[in-house]
Amino acid sequence: MGSIVDFCKLAELRARTDRDLVRILTADLDRSLALANVAAGKHSVFRAEAEAVYKRAQTLLPKLSGLTTEQRTELEAKLKELGMALDLVPGTMDLEPETPVLRGRITMSTRRHFLQASTFAGLAASALAAQDDADKKISPNDRIRVALIGAGGMGTGDAEASQKVPGVELVAVSDIYEGRLTRAKERWGNQLFTTRDYREVLARSDIDAVLIATPDHWHAKIATDAMNAGKDVYCEKPMVQHVDDGAGVVATQKKTGRIMQVGSQRVSSIVYKKAQELMNAGAIGELNMVEAWWDRNDAIGAWEYSIPPDASPQNIDWDRFLGRAPKVPFEPVRLFRWRNYRDYGTGVAGDLFVHLFSGMHFITGAIGPTRVFATGGLRFWKDGRDVPDVFMGLYDYPATDRHPAFNLALRVNFVSGAGESSGFRFVGTEGIMTVDGGVSIAKTPRETEPGYTIDTFPKAVQEEFLAAYQKKYPPQTPNADSMRPMQDEKFHAPHGYSDHQDHHRNFIAAVRSRKPVVEDPVFGFRAAGPALLSNVSYFEQRLCIWDPETMTLKS
Ligand SMILES: NC(=O)c1ccc[n+]([C@@H]2O[C@H](COP(=O)([O-])OP(=O)(O)OC[C@H]3O[C@@H](n4cnc5c(N)ncnc54)[C@H](O)[C@@H]3O)[C@@H](O)[C@H]2O)c1
Repeated sequence: MGSIVDFCKLAELRARTDRDLVRILTADLDRSLALANVAAGKHSVFRAEAEAVYKRAQTLLPKLSGLTTEQRTELEAKLKELGMALDLVPGTMDLEPETPVLRGRITMSTRRHFLQASTFAGLAASALAAQDDADKKISPNDRIRVALIGAGGMGTGDAEASQKVPGVELVAVSDIYEGRLTRAKERWGNQLFTTRDYREVLARSDIDAVLIATPDHWHAKIATDAMNAGKDVYCEKPMVQHVDDGAGVVATQKKTGRIMQVGSQRVSSIVYKKAQELMNAGAIGELNMVEAWWDRNDAIGAWEYSIPPDASPQNIDWDRFLGRAPKVPFEPVRLFRWRNYRDYGTGVAGDLFVHLFSGMHFITGAIGPTRVFATGGLRFWKDGRDVPDVFMGLYDYPATDRHPAFNLALRVNFVSGAGESSGFRFVGTEGIMTVDGGVSIAKTPRETEPGYTIDTFPKAVQEEFLAAYQKKYPPQTPNADSMRPMQDEKFHAPHGYSDHQDHHRNFIAAVRSRKPVVEDPVFGFRAAGPALLSNVSYFEQRLCIWDPETMTLKS
């Protein structure tokens, strides 16, 4: 490929109108993003080219007259993306799935960003296919103004992902800890409206949608308040803290007609989409069992998050944190490590099982189990928490028109000596599909004859048996042709692919188009319900009977 700088110079000379320049600039920026991705590996020569295009575009862009707002927004977004990939403009925090606290990293991961940038460069065509066209044509009227409620680890990731969708503007942030409001302004600018009281956000008529990333015990209340106030809602998983909260959220969404997306991003994942396609195509025959797990073995993985040294009743609205939870005196650990307490969180079931349920429901088309049983214990992280750190659930899924009857076994182990790993095994009559960062199918065809176990029979009986057997299955001399193919297949997502980004794209596209999201409250509750019943089963030491159709606890 020739030098992009030369190409750009030449193009600039030849271009007679801004239109040509826009086209050329767009192509160059896209190509440079691809180069930035390559440069992330080793070839600094590509980086130099991408950097040159960035600088050139930065100079040219303000000089172009006659650009439509749409064109300018698009070019600016591309330029920003390239700048971030090259580390020339401030980036955002690196989002680790379900690991909201920065694991010792304060700055963005450069490599991750290069790779994410490649998505925009068209390298990850399949990732692009998952986007909605609606986010590509933005007029000023299409701007979506969002507010974040709960600006901790995940809220920050949600706000970043949302703002990467073209036309989205973050205008307000609410949090009950002053430090997180200060950090929000440091991160996103002093123009942000900030408040400790989320109701002030809902009262603003200039806000279209809210991102809710508070501890679990606030989800249902804030989501229903927001929809009743006319806002669209992106609410983190689990949709609700208790099974009893679910029907109210579903009903409010129906009544108000607001868009509500629940934040289990796997439902938007191209990896899970691939797994769904393979399942529907019968790649593993008839499904009979699903196993899924999420193991960890470190303090942050086990939710021992940092507590800021300035935490005090002055800079934390303690009562507003507690909300409907029992009144207890100020104790920062309960806020900053809220997952450890049943009063605010949902244990490993609501935190991690719910991701496994939503992913599995998406792939199989299942809507939920009828029987739920869970067991486990607190084995290692005895830091005052009142939830188990080793947890297992068993679930019965009866046959529906979407799938045969199957059993599900889930496991979370925070004391797993092998470290972090997570995945699914879908077991079928003709193969096993494993879903983790990608999808793989392993098939071992059945033997063509049943074989025999006759050694303990008397000799004469053995001979009689063998004669009959060989008549039915005549002996054959094995040759190369008789070797059975193993038929293993593997599918990988493009490097840096982010299902979280796609989930936010899907939400914003729905806010614009008023078409359904991929994870509405019914889907969200059908994933949360059995996860939360796992807690009921564990703490009440009983089997729970659930009606997944009506989403009600039968006994
Ligand atoms: N989708 C995912 O992969 C994913 C990953 C991590 C967390 N989550 C979910 O996101 C939510 C937040 O988790 P987190 O790890 O970011 O927790 P966090 O503790 O880092 O952040 C929660 C924030 O909410 C604030 N808050 C508490 N009560 C509030 C209130 N009444 N109004 C406004 N702010 C309030 C807290 O001060 C805190 O800043 C949880 O529901 C969690 O399950 C989802």
